[in-house]
Amino acid sequence: MKALCTAMLIFVSSLSAAGQNPSYQQDQQWIAPAAASGKPNPLTNKPETAAGGRKLFLRNCAECHGPNGAGMEKKHSADLQLPVVQQQSDGALFWKITNGNASKGMPSFSRLPELQRWQLILFLRTLKATGPAAADPAK
Ligand code: HEC
Repeated sequence: MKALCTAMLIFVSSLSAAGQNPSYQQDQQWIAPAAASGKPNPLTNKPETAAGGRKLFLRNCAECHGPNGAGMEKKHSADLQLPVVQQQSDGALFWKITNGNASKGMPSFSRLPELQRWQLILFLRTLKATGPAAADPAK
């Protein structure tokens, strides 16, 4: 059982390494206004809705960010597991997903219902645990 877990950990960490975008540079001009950053996620107490967020992510976001959110170098897309992303508030991420950053290749998702955007953020928060840093204590 232990060997199986180790094998799975190695598999998961190699997966996340494969799609990663280590060269991602955050756009310093793309910052959510304070009022937007302070918005709480209405689904915070419903972590079970993250599963639906994962489906939405695979449908709308994975083509650029990869299925594990680690980003893709050729698309210049953000590695959503990085601390620079995870440190932002739910409200700030909601604002970015809603408005996009068209000139840098991130589309606006204002067409998705609000609750689906919050659901996506719940899913983004689960990515932290599967990141290479979490899977490999040596790093
Ligand atoms: C067409 C490609 C594309 C799609 C589809 C896409 N993104 Fe992005 N996304 C990007 C790029 C490129 C960036 C980096 C933008 C920049 O450099 O400012 C980005 C940035 C982001 C950021 C901000 C990262 C930061 O540094 O703060 C978040 C959050 C994000 N995307 C979430 C999503 C979510 C959630 C979806 C699906 C609903 C999605 N993206 C779909 C290309 C895409």
